Amino acid sequence: MNGIELREVWFKYPGSKEWALRGVSLEIRRGEVLVLVGPNGSGKTTILKLAGGLYRPSRGEVTFWGSNIWEVNGSKRLELRRAVVYVHEKPILLRGTALDNVTFAPLLRGVPREEAIKIAEELLSDTSSAYLSRKDRREMSAGEAQVVSILRAVAAGPKILLLDEPTAHLDREKRVILTNLIGKLRSEGMGIAIATHDHLLALRTADRVVIVENGVVGSVGRPSEILDCC
Ligand SMILES: Nc1ncnc2c1ncn2[C@@H]1O[C@H](COP(=O)(O)OP(=O)(O)O)[C@@H](O)[C@H]1O
Ligand SMILES: [Mg+2]
Repeated sequence: MNGIELREVWFKYPGSKEWALRGVSLEIRRGEVLVLVGPNGSGKTTILKLAGGLYRPSRGEVTFWGSNIWEVNGSKRLELRRAVVYVHEKPILLRGTALDNVTFAPLLRGVPREEAIKIAEELLSDTSSAYLSRKDRREMSAGEAQVVSILRAVAAGPKILLLDEPTAHLDREKRVILTNLIGKLRSEGMGIAIATHDHLLALRTADRVVIVENGVVGSVGRPSEILDCC
């Protein structure tokens, strides 16, 4: 499997009596956009965090390129983990400007500073966000911070990108920018999974849509087959 697979995953939060996920199986493949839609509390965030290797399944398996992420060790584990980045719904930015934030991701992966800055500048300008470069995080609107946190994840160069409610704070212009960015990354071979209750975003970006309800995933299909809006 060229990507992430959840196999019969069950998950319970520590201290909770209820299963948050019950037997979830799905694949997030490279070169494809999978959109998870469903009401609040249905389990979308939990699925993405399991897919990102942030939570360990109570039962079942999460594999990255066929390897159980909780069973591999050492450099293999690091390599697999670096291939996947989860972007939190609430933008979390580091101290400093947008350029600092976006530069930090490649720097952390050992890219030389000059090159890291170039990657960051290009990403910011390709997404009409160059105007943010010198802006400190404290001067950013929620939508601007959300864009920057997504760009930071992209700058890390993951093979699979997990976006949690990426349009929560975005206005129409920034939604278009995000939709275009998603299309470009997909065409370059990145796999993208998006959790959202934004059906329009699903319609515009998804190759496959899956409905999540009450900790269970329904059938997977093309947006036109799954979404009742279209
Ligand atoms: N940290 C947590 N501790 C306990 N229960 C949680 C926690 N986070 C989420 N849940 C519960 O897990 C279920 C799924 O939540 P979540 O994955 O956040 O849904 P969604 O992202 O679809 O809104 C909900 O019932 C929610 O209350
Ligand atoms: Mg959520």
